[in-house]
Amino acid sequence: MTATNQPLEGRVAFITGAARGQGRAHAVRLASEGADIIAIDVCAPISETITYPMATSEELAETVRAVEATGRKVLAREVDIRDLAALQQVVADGVEQFGRLDIVVANAGVLSWGRIWEMSEDQWDTVIDVNLNGTWRTIRAAVPAMIAAGNGGSIIIVSSSAGLKATPGNAHYAASKHGLTALANSLAIEAGEFGIRVNSIHPYSIETPMVEKDAMMAIFAKYPSYLHSFSPMPYQPLDEESKGLQGFMEPEEVADVVAWLAGDGSKSLSGSQIAVDRGAMKH
Ligand SMILES: NC(=O)c1ccc[n+]([C@@H]2O[C@H](COP(=O)([O-])OP(=O)(O)OC[C@H]3O[C@@H](n4cnc5c(N)ncnc54)[C@H](O)[C@@H]3O)[C@@H](O)[C@H]2O)c1
Repeated sequence: MTATNQPLEGRVAFITGAARGQGRAHAVRLASEGADIIAIDVCAPISETITYPMATSEELAETVRAVEATGRKVLAREVDIRDLAALQQVVADGVEQFGRLDIVVANAGVLSWGRIWEMSEDQWDTVIDVNLNGTWRTIRAAVPAMIAAGNGGSIIIVSSSAGLKATPGNAHYAASKHGLTALANSLAIEAGEFGIRVNSIHPYSIETPMVEKDAMMAIFAKYPSYLHSFSPMPYQPLDEESKGLQGFMEPEEVADVVAWLAGDGSKSLSGSQIAVDRGAMKH
């Protein structure tokens, strides 16, 4: 095989939550490696229980500009991952436009804070419905198109460190992300015979609008014992740029891992849980 800086050339990637944050970083990174992109985001408020804003139409347009700047094509649409019919339509339109579907990055998700027995039903349901049910709907819409295209592929399900360990103060989020770990594991077996690999990633502490530092500090101030579950990251990069982030990672660092999982360099991996946490979970 010849080395190329476009290892994903000719492939098509479907990315949810792509208007900003990690999703945009994944879209730009996979495009820069040669993939055409189907990018969706809700771009509208989804529930009063989510106390930070969702991405905007302008942010999705900025993702489109950034992908096009790499020279690749992009189909972008405002779709809620809770809407199966809309997901199926955008997948069908993407396959019609680009001819195939090879990569899925099921990235869209939401977070809120509160104790288990004090949350409203709406707070619990919103997080489960977006993170777990919406990701299943993403898979439900995408996998038949991948099988039909007949090229195999790679699915990356964005879980969290909260998908592998307890996170007091956001148990609904942890329950949804543990659910995604199980979904990825079962899908790895079911989709394997079609040449489709499935892995979950488990990021921790990424600098995006989802991480409301004030809300976290308020929870830790109220319930100091919860802090033990949110460990510092043992590995500290020595470059100045990373040092400046003080305990957070950039979305682009997660995109490095997503690009590796999307490409053939990781072809021996399926059903793996990849921590992207600089070792934090080992505390
Ligand atoms: N930031 C972190 O520290 C961290 C850590 C672990 C895991 N994660 C996970 O990473 C993923 C990306 O989050 P992020 O950190 O980039 O935050 P973010 O809030 O910047 O990005 C999430 C994106 O998903 C979109 N979205 C939300 N609900 C949607 C829906 N119903 N339909 C379509 N789009 C929807 C939002 O508009 C937003 O653009 C999430 O699944 C999150 O749970 C984040």
